[in-house]
Amino acid sequence: MFTEEERSYLGHNLAEALKFFDPERAASNPNQETALAWVIQDCNGPTTLSRARYAEDSLEEAIRQGVQQYVILGAGMDTFAFRRPDMLEQLQVFEVDHPATQAFKRSRLTELGWEHPAELHFVPVDFTKENLVAALKRSSYDPQKLSFFSWLGVTMYLTRNVVFATLQAIADIAPAGSTIIFDYYDTDAFNPDRSSKRMQKEQEIVRLVGEPMKEGIDPSTLAADLEGIGLLLYENLSPADIEERYFKGRTDGYHAFEHVHFAWAVVD
Ligand SMILES: C[S@@+](CC[C@H](N)C(=O)[O-])C[C@H]1O[C@@H](n2cnc3c(N)ncnc32)[C@H](O)[C@@H]1O
Repeated sequence: MFTEEERSYLGHNLAEALKFFDPERAASNPNQETALAWVIQDCNGPTTLSRARYAEDSLEEAIRQGVQQYVILGAGMDTFAFRRPDMLEQLQVFEVDHPATQAFKRSRLTELGWEHPAELHFVPVDFTKENLVAALKRSSYDPQKLSFFSWLGVTMYLTRNVVFATLQAIADIAPAGSTIIFDYYDTDAFNPDRSSKRMQKEQEIVRLVGEPMKEGIDPSTLAADLEGIGLLLYENLSPADIEERYFKGRTDGYHAFEHVHFAWAVVD
């Protein structure tokens, strides 16, 4: 979705960010391409890729079980509906996102001239201001149809209350057997005495750009917390599990990040 000019501008800026993330490596004067690769590898590349892989592999399985609606919460610049036209044959896709992000994305799609698939629906919502049930009721989402929700890279930007209210909304509006996949940071990530150096830097940088991360979730109580709102925790991957599943034996320097967990829950 970037123009070549933007891509090169972003690449340059990200390469410069190595000075912030890893001053020692930056001091060794890598060329721009090497610095950029290091920043992506240490900053967000492995997490973004593995969470998308986790969600989309689970979605393929869910479609075989009869899922007909895919709700992408906090979709950001996710291009699923454009990348996977093969899956739209049996799927309606709902991108639910903050009104400002969604407006930006929609204008970018118009500029690019990408054809808008008839199966893609946009639902603007601010999770801190409106309940997800009310937002989905404004759309063509069908509460009778088995659904699959993903919520990637978002929970850490919200308070625990908003996260659980939104999860509860999924349990309220989706039929039993529907799925929600989300990633979350553990509570240690927000404790300066326990969080990793990388995590502290990541939180510092998003705070500086005005989008602070707020709260984590305790993986040891997640099953009970979800049960209380009508969701059954089917899988709860720790950083070690994610390393084993997606990064074991790789030689490209990509690894699971500390404090990042993936959860898969089902509406009871
Ligand atoms: C880091 S991006 C994640 C994008 C994408 N899901 C991914 O996996 O890369 C965070 C997304 O959360 C959304 N978001 C953050 N706060 C929100 C809120 N209060 N209400 C709705 N969306 C929110 C942003 O608009 C953005 O699309």
